[in-house]
Amino acid sequence: MSDVVSYQLHGNIGVIAVNSPPVNALSQSVREGILNAVNQAQADASEAVVLRCEGRTFIAGADITEFGKPPKDPWLPEVLSAIENSSKPVIAAIHGTALGGGFEVALACHYRCAVAAAKVGLPEVKLGLLPGAGGTQRVPRIAGVKAALDMITSGNPVAAPKAKDMGLIDEVVSGDDLEAGAISYAQDLLASGAPLKRVRDITIDPETIEPGFFDDARKRLAKRARGQIAQDRIVSCLEAAVKLPMDEGLARERELFQELVTSPESAAMRHIFFAERQAAKIKDLPKDTATRPIKKVAIIGGGTMGGGIAMCFANVGIPVVLVEVNDEALQRGLGIIRKNYSITVQKGKLPEDKMEQLIGLISGTTEYADIADVDLVIEAVFENLDLKKEIFAKLDGVCKQGAILATNTSYQDVDAIAEATSRPQDVVGMHFFSPANVMKLLENVRGEKTADDVLATAMAIGKKIGKVCALSRVCYGFIGNRMLGGYGREAQMLLMDGCTPEQVDSALENFGMAMGPLAMGDLAGLDVGYKARQARTDLPDDPKLYRMGTLLVEMGRHGQKTGSGFYKYDPETRRRMSDPEVEAMIKEEAAKLEIEQREVSEEEILARCFYPLINEGAKILEEGIAQRPSDIDVVYVFGYAFPVAKGGPMFYADQVGLKNVYDKICEFRERYGEEYWQPAPLLEELAKSGKTFAEWDRERGNA
Ligand code: 3HC
Ligand code: NAI
Repeated sequence: MSDVVSYQLHGNIGVIAVNSPPVNALSQSVREGILNAVNQAQADASEAVVLRCEGRTFIAGADITEFGKPPKDPWLPEVLSAIENSSKPVIAAIHGTALGGGFEVALACHYRCAVAAAKVGLPEVKLGLLPGAGGTQRVPRIAGVKAALDMITSGNPVAAPKAKDMGLIDEVVSGDDLEAGAISYAQDLLASGAPLKRVRDITIDPETIEPGFFDDARKRLAKRARGQIAQDRIVSCLEAAVKLPMDEGLARERELFQELVTSPESAAMRHIFFAERQAAKIKDLPKDTATRPIKKVAIIGGGTMGGGIAMCFANVGIPVVLVEVNDEALQRGLGIIRKNYSITVQKGKLPEDKMEQLIGLISGTTEYADIADVDLVIEAVFENLDLKKEIFAKLDGVCKQGAILATNTSYQDVDAIAEATSRPQDVVGMHFFSPANVMKLLENVRGEKTADDVLATAMAIGKKIGKVCALSRVCYGFIGNRMLGGYGREAQMLLMDGCTPEQVDSALENFGMAMGPLAMGDLAGLDVGYKARQARTDLPDDPKLYRMGTLLVEMGRHGQKTGSGFYKYDPETRRRMSDPEVEAMIKEEAAKLEIEQREVSEEEILARCFYPLINEGAKILEEGIAQRPSDIDVVYVFGYAFPVAKGGPMFYADQVGLKNVYDKICEFRERYGEEYWQPAPLLEELAKSGKTFAEWDRERGNA
């Protein structure tokens, strides 16, 4: 047969086996191989056909790398028709994850069996798509419209036993040998004279759908996934499944799939899919670099970050010791962890006994001697270089040889911290984001002397605790926080120019940011930036700069924690409300500085806030702080809630056109001063040569 699909007769059962690592995606050769095998089975001595996969998983979907390229025959729908119209029952045998087009292949089969650990799902929405090979027509026919809506709009997979309850799987196969189990199931079906069960023959009674069901779903989803069109189109497909005959429903699904696959939103989300996987790879480290075993972890400092980081490790069964300065601080830290877990229990997302089990993995101490045996230490004490150095010197004295000593610092020099020890090769930055048990990003920071296996371990353990990892070299603020500087600065400058806080934040929220920069400042505490600015000597002496942020802090308005900052907050609901007092103050301050206030367009707000971020990103690339532009996108999407549908700041810049970004920065330099606006040399070079960041990266040899 083909290289990637084999077909063999086992007695009266034909077995089609797909073998296309790593995830058996439906590339052209896989599609062709399956089609040929199904056709062959029609003419041989088989009485039934099993379709299974080699390797770690059943087919994990269409081959995403083929999207956006000219289609190649056979199309997936053609393959599915051949399966569905087979004169002999075809039985999908699922292990691993049957996702997207992979699950759609299974749904076109007459029967589906799976091992208990398998999962099935339609995650296309996470790529800005909808299931384009019958998923939206077949799932509601089997599991009902409501279940289909939940499954397809969430994109979350369902475990085999639940899928069986939903009717999506017919049989859960026990034992380790899926092929043998599937063949035996096929024999049982033949023996019982089971019919050729085709999902297309099921009809949905429109009377069972409540009036307004689809409109309500559209409204709800529009709120949940702001600015993303895929959800709306999925609802349209489900509506078609109810109202139209199967073939017309399939045609509607295909039409809407084509619309989405060519949308900028899906291109951005596919970019992030690959960027996330790429970011985990360290360019100059061989793939098989050894890692150090991490069986026990210590966290120094049980405050906001330390507690959340401890939970990350406990959640995957790794014991954690929390070290605090005194018993009171320790009990406070442990208390917050318990409270956080309790909230999850209250929401019904964690059984109570499981919570106790997780909490049981977290112990506390005030003695450094108690952490002599840990494999990894993560320091999360106050953001003070001298204190951090002191702690690392202490860790050097007590920790066993080979232990990895990591710092969660947001800004400090990881190399200086490493030099406080006699083993700088074991020191690395592991920068989590707040709340650490929730935020997906882990920015690992490579010091000058960090050993290869320490880096590889930081990336591997990050993946194990469910984080998306990206690598940064050492600089002030690393990738993410360093880029944020100009973004926050301009948000405040715009106030002086005539915007209200609400205007600035709304413009960025309309773009898709989860929260605008001023509201974000209120959430994090305006005093944090205030203190950080006081420690800096490199800021221009300009009364406009951070004027409102500074005044508000000096008035005691530190943000949400004091009930007011750029906004007022409802004490009960924490809802933000515009504050006329702040708006009047902004006008007064602008007048004092003789700044003529004016109407500022939404377009200018976006450019003023995002272009400094992109410009700094270009500098970060030139300096080799980030490995690739797509790593920066990963940092922003997973650490700063940059909208995934815009693909991250560097991808977004490529879409806007680097020449446009560069020209605007030059224009702002004239208008607002060269101390703030100076195009990065790399940006200038690419703008002038008409290239994108992605092209530049490819030319340097990155995939
Ligand atoms: N197409 C092309 N490449 C894919 C792929 C796909 N559908 N799925 C995964 N890969 C690649 C990854 O890019 C990665 O490549 P790399 O090693 O070069 O970085 C490699 O396969 C392994 O992937 P992971 O690192 O993600 O492996 P995991 O074991 O952690 O996860 C997985 C496996 C759960 C299958 C995960 O890869 C995944 O979720 N894949 C995407 C599934 C998906 O979205 N399917 C729907 C596609 S759209 C579709 O089917 C449209 C249809 O309706 C017509
Ligand atoms: P925090 O003030 O909430 O907690 C710090 C904790 O460290 C306190 O509980 C304190 O008692 C403890 N501590 C101080 N000295 C200690 C010592 N010698 N030994 C043991 N414990 C000691 O601070 P937070 O916000 O958790 O920040 C910690 C670190 O994480 C800082 O470096 C910060 O820059 C970084 N960070 C903070 C983020 C945030 O959003 N809060 C995000 C990412 C990183």
